Amino acid sequence: MRDGDEFVDEEGAVVNDEGETMSGGDETMRQATKERASTGSALCFRSVVRVHGTGPTAVRALGPIDLDVADGEFVAVMGPSGSGKSTFLGLAGALDLPTEGRVSILGTDLDELGTSQSATLRRRAIGFVFQELNLLPGLTALENVALPLELDGVSSSEARSQSVEALARVQMERLSHRFPDDLSGGEQQRVAIARAMVGERRLLLADEPTGALDSVTGEVVMRCLREHVDRGRTVVLVTHDSSHAAWADRVVFLRDGQILRETRSSRPFLPRVLGPRP
Ligand SMILES: Nc1ncnc2c1ncn2[C@@H]1O[C@H](COP(=O)(O)OP(=O)(O)OP(=O)(O)O)[C@@H](O)[C@H]1O
Ligand SMILES: [Mg+2]
Repeated sequence: MRDGDEFVDEEGAVVNDEGETMSGGDETMRQATKERASTGSALCFRSVVRVHGTGPTAVRALGPIDLDVADGEFVAVMGPSGSGKSTFLGLAGALDLPTEGRVSILGTDLDELGTSQSATLRRRAIGFVFQELNLLPGLTALENVALPLELDGVSSSEARSQSVEALARVQMERLSHRFPDDLSGGEQQRVAIARAMVGERRLLLADEPTGALDSVTGEVVMRCLREHVDRGRTVVLVTHDSSHAAWADRVVFLRDGQILRETRSSRPFLPRVLGPRP
């Protein structure tokens, strides 16, 4: 976590990246979330605990937490290093199972899924941007982006045209023929984001996708994620950058595996700092 990150809530109160000085707005946020959740839940966490390891070396990385993310909501997750953000995303993406409690993704309880059903859910419904980007070095940027579509049976020409469009959204169409090793860190991140956005997947989970981006490119990516949500998708973004979190509908602050607080982002904050939302 960087010192000095600040975030302005909907009441105009300034909070730091642990959400400590926020005033008001909590009830409004809870109400709004409740209303949105009633239209459909992308993620539902109930009494969820994730413990890594056993015995004296066991680490409670997360929980117990209760959290709903509504369909079509953009949630940013902030918190210090080691606070459980990646652990949370691993569960939200069906990459991991809770030690205790219940996780449901797009209406499906993880407990009810076998390994292959869980893989199908991930492939069909979830786009990931991991901290380590996992681009395949032997494939070009375009081929990397097209891969999830082709794995799901989309024809090559259709996968290619959707991938060109996704790369254009992150301003990477000119470099689409390059291999990952011939791209900068920030360019590779944008390819990974295009790969997570391409196709019809409803949920995008991103772990610090803007870490290697300069402020202008970071804004391009945040605008893309916002547009993705405005097209009806759900985005959960882990970030240390409060100006990026301000693009979200809601910010969840984690500390020591617990939800410290939640707040809604301030719309008036955006024109002043980042320019108007699309
Ligand atoms: N496989 C594991 N085995 C043991 N402990 C783990 C494992 N994975 C994570 N942890 C621990 O769980 C806690 C939460 O880790 P997590 O990776 O979720 O944090 P984070 O908030 O994503 O941190 P960062 O900002 O550094 O990425 C940390 O204390 C971490 O050391
Ligand atoms: Mg992490």
